[in-house]
Amino acid sequence: MLSVRAFPVPCAATIFDADEGFWHREGLTIVIDTLRMTSVAAAALANGCRGVLVVESVEEARATARRVGALLGGERGALRVEGFDCGNSPLEYGRELVAERLVVLTTTNGARAVECVRRSSRRVWLAAFLNAGAVAERVLTRGIGCVSIVCAGTQGLFSMEDALTAGAIVDRLGKAIQLNDFAYACVSLYRSFKYDVKGALLNTHHTQRLISLGFEQDIDFCLREDAVDSVPALGGDGWFVGV
Ligand code: MLT
Repeated sequence: MLSVRAFPVPCAATIFDADEGFWHREGLTIVIDTLRMTSVAAAALANGCRGVLVVESVEEARATARRVGALLGGERGALRVEGFDCGNSPLEYGRELVAERLVVLTTTNGARAVECVRRSSRRVWLAAFLNAGAVAERVLTRGIGCVSIVCAGTQGLFSMEDALTAGAIVDRLGKAIQLNDFAYACVSLYRSFKYDVKGALLNTHHTQRLISLGFEQDIDFCLREDAVDSVPALGGDGWFVGV
């Protein structure tokens, strides 16, 4: 039976891993930062981007992008970093810009979550509402037996949008699955709010912050469930490519 564990923030997964050592042995890890890093990665790959590298520091992002001739994207404080080609809005990563290009991304919470799981997990994918259906479909068709969903959260705290996205994925995995308590909470939350996900997010911290900065269009875009078929998967060279 497919087993799914979800974690509200990366450090919860790290603590669990230290106790159980599960990442070394088992399955797939899915990182979620719906607003907005994993939505950017899914959108960029869907628009023909050849690969996305996610790094924690601005300096590393600049140096790598220069070395490989990649587009440079990401944020600090949700705003585009000075001198970068793009910010952290998925709407910026259109086909006309990203097709056949590599993208180096650095973001605050999403990149930290990727860094945290990359050390221990053999297999890492990125998920958002945009590709929730595609992620679930790949899990089912590839016969994966154990899935760990790690929500990026915001500054170490729980984020409602990531939990709802985890719930959307679990919902699409069908009934024959074993869930930990947080995965069960996520799917229950998603089923309660799925007809008005934006409404459910309007009182939450990161959504309010993005709206106050003028990014409401990004939120509308990021909440389009199953809009893309791309699933960013971490390759041996550290780049995410579509599977
Ligand atoms: C992050 O990684 O912290 C986010 O993606 C922030 C943002 O929405 O720009």
